Amino acid sequence: MKNQIEQLKNKKNAVILAHYYAPGEVQEIADYVGDSFYLAKIAKQSETDIIVFCGVRFMGESAKILNPDKKVLMPDLTADCPMAHMVADGIIEEMRAKYDDLAVVCYINSTAELKCKSDVCVTSSNAVKIVRGLPNKNIFFIPDRNLGSFVAEQVPEKNIMLNDGCCPIHARITADQVLAERKKHPRALVLTHPECDASVIKLSDFIGSTAEIIAYAGKSEASEFIICTEDGVDYKLITDNKNKRFYYPDPHPCCADMKLNTLEAVLSVLEKEDKEITVDEDIRRRALLPLDKMLELAK
Ligand code: 13P
Ligand code: SF4
Repeated sequence: MKNQIEQLKNKKNAVILAHYYAPGEVQEIADYVGDSFYLAKIAKQSETDIIVFCGVRFMGESAKILNPDKKVLMPDLTADCPMAHMVADGIIEEMRAKYDDLAVVCYINSTAELKCKSDVCVTSSNAVKIVRGLPNKNIFFIPDRNLGSFVAEQVPEKNIMLNDGCCPIHARITADQVLAERKKHPRALVLTHPECDASVIKLSDFIGSTAEIIAYAGKSEASEFIICTEDGVDYKLITDNKNKRFYYPDPHPCCADMKLNTLEAVLSVLEKEDKEITVDEDIRRRALLPLDKMLELAK
């Protein structure tokens, strides 16, 4: 299957992008693997005719918004991020009416429609830097209350208002689960994604995006780590660090939507070119503004 994918990819001038939560065998055949920010930058620079995005819908959608003339395919169009929809109707308009100088900061894990109503997008690797640099005092951070509260801690000079959305996978990780792992592995460092609850963040030695967690584990002198994020990162962690040990909260955090990106589905979509992301042109043009602003401000 891997050979067939390689041949089809070359024949059709396609590039395969995969998020660190995609299954390991898909990360293995991908041309680029990374966190959401890296993949958005790669999608923007891509020169192939086809982009196959092995992630969830908001990632494929962002690639299409940045590349309207390219065919953006996803192995499974039902792979979605539940958090991307977690903003109540009318709440952005209500907040804008209340605060003149409001900036609506939208985590990239959001629908194109929500991006249209926002001033700037962020990812977990650039949210603190971008929010800190905004001229606005009042910030409405959507949709993730956990990333929003992490940013609020780091940027106390701003009035950051939170929206009640979260990632069901990260929000399920509890402080007790982390403490139980730490009891079993007392020398392990705790590396955590900012989508986790504040009680888990408080116990952590390092907080960062998937790519930042992987980079930190690689550079660290420590040899054991408790990883508080989706367990797809294990593929890269183990490949890069043969002598280090990685543990996860029990039960292992697993994003079922990300796991829909199977090798079979990648091969099938390359063969049939049938699962194409489309975005209404008016929505695309409006959603492009906050995405482009993020790419600019994160430089
Ligand atoms: P990263 O930006 O860290 O890759 O995170 C994306 C995501 O969906 C986390 O759940
Ligand atoms: Fe969305 Fe959470 Fe899955 Fe990331 S892990 S794609 S935030 S549901």
